[in-house]
Amino acid sequence: MKFNVLAIDGPSGSGKSTVAKMVACKLNFNYLDTGATYRAFGYMVLVKFSETKIKSSIKKIMGTDDVDQIITTEVANELLNKFNLLYENQKVVINGLDITELIRSDEVSEISSKVATINEVREFLVGWQQNWVVEHGSSVVEGRDIGTVVFPKAPLKIFLTADDEVRSLRRSHQISQRLDTIKENLTLRDIRDSKRINSPLKAANDAIVIDSTFKSIDEVVEEILSLWKNLNL
Ligand code: DC
Repeated sequence: MKFNVLAIDGPSGSGKSTVAKMVACKLNFNYLDTGATYRAFGYMVLVKFSETKIKSSIKKIMGTDDVDQIITTEVANELLNKFNLLYENQKVVINGLDITELIRSDEVSEISSKVATINEVREFLVGWQQNWVVEHGSSVVEGRDIGTVVFPKAPLKIFLTADDEVRSLRRSHQISQRLDTIKENLTLRDIRDSKRINSPLKAANDAIVIDSTFKSIDEVVEEILSLWKNLNL
């Protein structure tokens, strides 16, 4: 099947999800939120470790950035073998359980950014994401490494940014937490996502960087649609 990919990468709170969904709707494309796939695996790790005698490991995972000391290659592969992920119409289901809402908790935000540093997990999920698009057809794909790793040949790559204050404020409309806590968590996640060795968050060389700090969602969407139209695909 011939398909096109419009890649949208950027840090949390840059407006990626809202923009990506609107662009997908306007182009009549599918929409894939790759962050949800890392969140789904993070959720599975939380459940798996909470229900067994290794309960104390969860505390250790939350308290360290060296998760590979706890989630070793062996453990990661064992969990990935049992990881049956479905993503349809923005619903996330693992092993028959709808976890769409559950993966939005702070705990899952934190663990997903940690498990995203594990090579085996990235390899598995990148393959899963590529297959999803092959099966579904033309898509707007949103994440951190779409333009650099998952679809490096995408004809349009957008890197969406916004300054820290604005990103924290946007997050504060989605979750009920103090603004300074939100900002602190966001910064920690940004650092982890950008500094990891495997596929860090960064703009592809041929990406178009859009700073949404002083732009409305509609303006950003229009800008992307016009860039896409100009490709004359
Ligand atoms: O986009 P999000 O906040 O839902 O993503 C959750 C975490 O998943 C994020 O902190 C980093 C990771 N992630 C990633 O490493 N690569 C992607 N393509 C998408 C998300």
